[in-house]
Amino acid sequence: MRTTESLSELRTIRASMQGILGLIPTMGALHAGHLSLVRRACSECRHVGASIFVNPTQFSKGEDFGKYPRAVQKDLELLESLGVDVVYIPAADSMYPPGYQTWIDVEALSTPLEGKFRPGHFRGVATVVAKLLNSFTPDKAYFGQKDAQQAAVLKRMVRDLNFPVDIIICPTVREPDGLAMSSRNVYLNPAERQAATVLYGALSAAKSRYDSGERDADVLRDTMQSVLDAEPMARAQYISAADPETLGELKTINQGVLLSLAVCIGETRLIDNFLI
Ligand code: PAJ
Repeated sequence: MRTTESLSELRTIRASMQGILGLIPTMGALHAGHLSLVRRACSECRHVGASIFVNPTQFSKGEDFGKYPRAVQKDLELLESLGVDVVYIPAADSMYPPGYQTWIDVEALSTPLEGKFRPGHFRGVATVVAKLLNSFTPDKAYFGQKDAQQAAVLKRMVRDLNFPVDIIICPTVREPDGLAMSSRNVYLNPAERQAATVLYGALSAAKSRYDSGERDADVLRDTMQSVLDAEPMARAQYISAADPETLGELKTINQGVLLSLAVCIGETRLIDNFLI
């Protein structure tokens, strides 16, 4: 496995590859969710690349950029053990050198849900992913359903700007009790970790209403709300039953629905979703 901080070295490595390349962009602190993306890429692509970059421009002021978990050595061991060919670990000042001023704004899809609580977040995500796609020129790029709005924003960006890449969305990997794996779960103390299962509980309760025929989106949102209300450590930021493509809130569910929520457990902000 090759590891590089240098864009020109990455391009040389890329130029020597024959056959399709799959890319997994990450911010590191890898867990089984990330690794499921890597395994999927390894099964579908002759070559696999990953990036590790804690992207400062997708964190708002007051968020956890400074304390975001970093574990590069362990990450590299994991990536190598799975058969990754190349890992790109750029420095922040090479991604955003002095004078940097070009941004990608996927307008309407970036505004609801996460966008309301994390202004500028998707502008940072879309911009860094565009730069990574231009740096690796992969044939396929793999992302997790865990970040449903991110997936929608990036699919739209690739369509709108004619990036020659297939975006592949992989299922959310969960702990045995349902908690979606996240690099931020390490922030939770034992009591908070226990309380954090309420996100999965709320989504599951809404899904069982849906499975028994409920199609009124307000009922599904209320179902999630009442499960969250029963957990004193949970403070919901949003509870949504939205159109999976436009992310607009639904009244009645005719086709699919994206059930999603953002909840603070203590100081830790968690998100999760079910795509039905
Ligand atoms: P990060 O949070 O490190 O996640 C990297 C990829 O792993 C994302 O596509 C994310 O959706 C996926 N992922 C995270 N947890 C998952 C889980 N439990 N199951 C399945 N997939 C999971 O998302 C980012 O980094 C950044 O925004 C990035 C795209 C790298 C741009 O900076």
